[in-house]
Amino acid sequence: MTNDNSNAMWGGRFAAGPDAIMEAINASIGFDKRLAAQDIAGSRAHAAMLASVDILSDTDAQAIREGLLTVLSEIEGGSFTFSTALEDIHMNVEARLKELIGEPAGRLHTARSRNDQVATDFKLWVRDQIDAAIQGIEALIRALLTQAEAGADWVMPGFTHLQTAQPVTWGHHMMAYVEMLGRDLSRFADARARMNECPLGAAALAGTSFPIDRQMTATALGFDRPAANSLDAVSDRDFALEFLGAASICALHLSRFAEELVIWSSAQFRFVALSDRFSTGSSIMPQKKNPDAAELIRAKIGRIFGANVALMTVMKGLPLAYSKDMQEDKEQVFDAADTLMLALAAMEGMVRDMSANRPALEQAAASGFSTATDLADWLVRALNMPFRQAHHVTGTLVAMAETKGCDLPDLSLADMQSVHDAINADVFDVLGVHNSVASRTSYGGTAPDQVRAQIARWQERLG
Ligand code: ARG
Repeated sequence: MTNDNSNAMWGGRFAAGPDAIMEAINASIGFDKRLAAQDIAGSRAHAAMLASVDILSDTDAQAIREGLLTVLSEIEGGSFTFSTALEDIHMNVEARLKELIGEPAGRLHTARSRNDQVATDFKLWVRDQIDAAIQGIEALIRALLTQAEAGADWVMPGFTHLQTAQPVTWGHHMMAYVEMLGRDLSRFADARARMNECPLGAAALAGTSFPIDRQMTATALGFDRPAANSLDAVSDRDFALEFLGAASICALHLSRFAEELVIWSSAQFRFVALSDRFSTGSSIMPQKKNPDAAELIRAKIGRIFGANVALMTVMKGLPLAYSKDMQEDKEQVFDAADTLMLALAAMEGMVRDMSANRPALEQAAASGFSTATDLADWLVRALNMPFRQAHHVTGTLVAMAETKGCDLPDLSLADMQSVHDAINADVFDVLGVHNSVASRTSYGGTAPDQVRAQIARWQERLG
């Protein structure tokens, strides 16, 4: 006999209901209501399967499946009352189903447990987020491709150690992020393929004595196959960890780009102007236009890393199979997914709207002795000088230019010959930044033709 105050789902052996504090620490409905659509899809598939193997009558299965749709529309329409006493989304949905259809609702939980149910729901949710992340990344890649195409031959300084290194093209720099994001796409796709096994039917931990058809529920829910070990199926959260891992690396890429945008939009660089739509003003300094979206992307990424560490920490000490610790998986992943989608959308908007300052890029590209390597390479090619000696001669010329307060192309031929007498006037051809980038035609190099080839490859890939 169930005590009035004990839980209707498992109150049989309980004489009293939970303490209020117990209820507060135990309930997950405050956040796992986000799994409602997945929970109902899982239950509908389960009910159809139970009927197909004659565990449920067709009439009961029909009532359950239709009743669940009513519950879903109540939740989506905002008229559903969630109850903390009913702990989580699974029991909230089932209790409402009981109110709607009566006795058959009690048959739905045959041959399953909340353990395989929550694993299935959460996997379905994470799988949707992977699809959303892939879409968001593709949209950002498209925005980068548009920038890269417009400025395939615009010259800008390339940096190492944030010191001017060699001239590169704007298109090349944009395409570097396309490559990073391309790896993110494939990481999400890999994770999706690996996780796509259905836990439903693993029941509490050991499987079930009912003659269920796990292939049928797996197929109905878009999984490739049922998970092969029931203990693993209910205790596995690798799919969430892989999502967080892929999200963390993608977020890291966004953060690095955000950092560049912060630097580039500063008055000292002026490489890009961010649009009014993606910047803010200052309440006291009228001249300011702040790159807040970039700064917030850079900062919010910390939440994703935090979620990754938090869930690894939750999982690392758990014996098989399910432990209630695992209820703590959801809020972390929800927050990380929300953050990633927002960061991707904000970055896409910023990139789409930003305008590169071509004259500022080219001016910066020509400063800082950026063609010194071209000069050294010319000494090797034209004078057959060993590279180490060419490096030394070039270094002497850079020092000379620095003393004179000019750049390498401003030195006279006589200046050059005072350092090495075989240097001739042809050297000036390689000292210009446009010649410099045009000469870097090696595969993957910064030459505009190479960049255009990479843009074309990506355009074809995205269709
Ligand atoms: N709310 C629970 C969770 O999120 C559902 C599974 C509960 N299972 C149990 N054996 N108490 O993990």
